[in-house]
Amino acid sequence: MRLADRRILLIVSGSISAYKVLELTRLLRKSGAAVTGVLTAGGARFVTREALAGITGQRVHDDLWAAEAEIGHIRLARLPDLVVVAPASANMLARMAQGLADDLAGTILLATRAPVLVAPAMNTAMWEHPATRANMAALTGRGVRVVGPGVGAMAEPESGPGRLAEPAEIHAAMEAILAPEAGPLAGRHALVTSGPTHEPIDPVRYIANRSSGKQGHAIAAALARLGARVTLVAGPVTLPDPPGVTTLHVETAREMLAACEAALPADIAVMAAAVADWRVAREATQKLKKEPGAEAPSLTMALNPDILATISRHARRPSLVIGFAAETEQVVEHAIAKRARKGCDWILANDVSGDVMGGDANRIHLVTDSGVEDWPEMAKAEVAARLAARIAAALG
Ligand code: C5P
Repeated sequence: MRLADRRILLIVSGSISAYKVLELTRLLRKSGAAVTGVLTAGGARFVTREALAGITGQRVHDDLWAAEAEIGHIRLARLPDLVVVAPASANMLARMAQGLADDLAGTILLATRAPVLVAPAMNTAMWEHPATRANMAALTGRGVRVVGPGVGAMAEPESGPGRLAEPAEIHAAMEAILAPEAGPLAGRHALVTSGPTHEPIDPVRYIANRSSGKQGHAIAAALARLGARVTLVAGPVTLPDPPGVTTLHVETAREMLAACEAALPADIAVMAAAVADWRVAREATQKLKKEPGAEAPSLTMALNPDILATISRHARRPSLVIGFAAETEQVVEHAIAKRARKGCDWILANDVSGDVMGGDANRIHLVTDSGVEDWPEMAKAEVAARLAARIAAALG
């Protein structure tokens, strides 16, 4: 009962998915948490004040001036141990990013000193819009935690991220923030990279690879479960951000390196991203045109920075630096050479000639200074748990 007696302020903004917060509230009450509901004008269109009051067992606040007369927005902001915005609409996130205090929810969010968790929910195009991307970057940069959104069925017949995280996922993210298990990695900071990078050719085209980010995201989650504070630098993936992990979203290798260096110091670095080795030397500012009769363009490539090698030789090098080696032949031999070349401590080598990339299973050879260990084939989540346990043991 990690949420027992914790005070939660639940802000519900306008999204068709708002019906799920009744289930979330039920889970929270079952865990012994006290929940106070706040509805925005949009939220009140989808969830009634009576339904939320009924399930929280408390008066619901929806009006700045009425709340002012009764309890005051500052008191409402000071009381909770955690403020959760679920669902967080695109408009709510934009208002938060701007620090607008034009209603009760915005005022509380400005006045609170409690940690804030947002569970975004919106149409995929709205989630992917540069304005929303910039708002999310501003919010996560200020320490706002995020759960979801997921990919799956939504109100519109569209696929892509935007679906509100499931109530159980939001509940787990809240537990991870309020009561991180005092695991063996408590007090340690882990930096993890995950997913592919996209290297632009022109405004609409890019070079990518088949990495899904499943392995790196699972490692970030496993390290967080052992109590580490985790910064995950993720390339473009469709996976939800792991609960309890600070996730920074980047696109290119150069952005990934900058985000990693900014995240230092760290005790542990696990570089699981499939970083593009090359980028297009000169990204076209306008879309390359196919002119009738003209030859196909040739692309001149430039070398990308090697993030693993840079972090391994960094002035603020983490004490344990771990890389991956995706190989299609002579897997172990190449991994041993790569470990020396990159200057990292461990390499997890895997054969990617099958369907490892994007798949759910992995077969690992762990290369350290004391030799090579062959792990049996197992689910990526199991690889992550085993690696996290090894890291904990190595750091004592
Ligand atoms: O050189 P190669 O791509 O085979 O090395 C794989 C390892 O190096 C992985 O851990 C990967 O995350 C990392 N890497 C990197 N930056 C690059 C290329 C690879 O961090 N530019």
